[in-house]
Amino acid sequence: MRKYRFDEGADVAEDIRTKYGFDGDLLDLYAGNKGVQVHKWHHYIPIYDRYFGPYRNTPVRFLEIGVNKGGSLQMWRNYFGPDATLFGIDINEDCAQYNGQAGQVRIGSQADPNFLNKVIDEMGGVDVVLDDGSHVMSHVRTSFETLYPRLETGGTYMIEDLHTAYKHKYGGGYRHPDNFFGFMRELIDDMHHWYHDKKLHHPGLEAHFTGLHIHDSIAVIDKEPVHAPVHSRVS
Ligand SMILES: C[S@@+](CC[C@H](N)C(=O)[O-])C[C@H]1O[C@@H](n2cnc3c(N)ncnc32)[C@H](O)[C@@H]1O
Repeated sequence: MRKYRFDEGADVAEDIRTKYGFDGDLLDLYAGNKGVQVHKWHHYIPIYDRYFGPYRNTPVRFLEIGVNKGGSLQMWRNYFGPDATLFGIDINEDCAQYNGQAGQVRIGSQADPNFLNKVIDEMGGVDVVLDDGSHVMSHVRTSFETLYPRLETGGTYMIEDLHTAYKHKYGGGYRHPDNFFGFMRELIDDMHHWYHDKKLHHPGLEAHFTGLHIHDSIAVIDKEPVHAPVHSRVS
């Protein structure tokens, strides 16, 4: 990914501001982050703000998969505010050193449903999930299949770095059967089950799956109660 790396020493905030027309607080929290390192693609910053903004200064329960150097949890604490419950999980035991700083850190794999369920039990539920973990297709899918059913109604499930879906190294590839966007396509078919007579790919999810937003390398999945669609003529 070296070819995409932004020039060391150039103005990160200015780049995001100019290219994406974004000037919210998250720009300063990211570009001005000090101490523990946070690593994000520039175009993610306005996307985060668009989907996570409504949860700011609320008692949101936020789970980030992938703690790494601890900087993202610090950024999220400054962004969401003191009432947020922030948990980060990571397979790397070194990340335990960040436990209790900006949030709680638990060590385990995102590919382990028992571990994920225990973390959510401890959190008392979850409103927002951000998957920035291994980016291995099977892991991303296991985490989604485990955590999405536990996501609060009205919650947001975001997966980032999905350019990995095109990489064999992550179990993906262009139109590869395990490319996560193929799984998304199945969810889209299920969301439209009213209009075709094929079997559901993922029975149960269609009851809550109201919207899917795809950006460059990011998927955002909404969760709301689904109602049988109706239309009317009003004059
Ligand atoms: C891209 S880094 C996270 C960066 C951090 N969120 C940030 O924004 O600075 C990915 C992290 O996922 C962790 N990871 C890798 N495999 C994992 C797994 N199976 N379960 C949980 N975490 C995993 C790695 O140890 C690494 O710290």
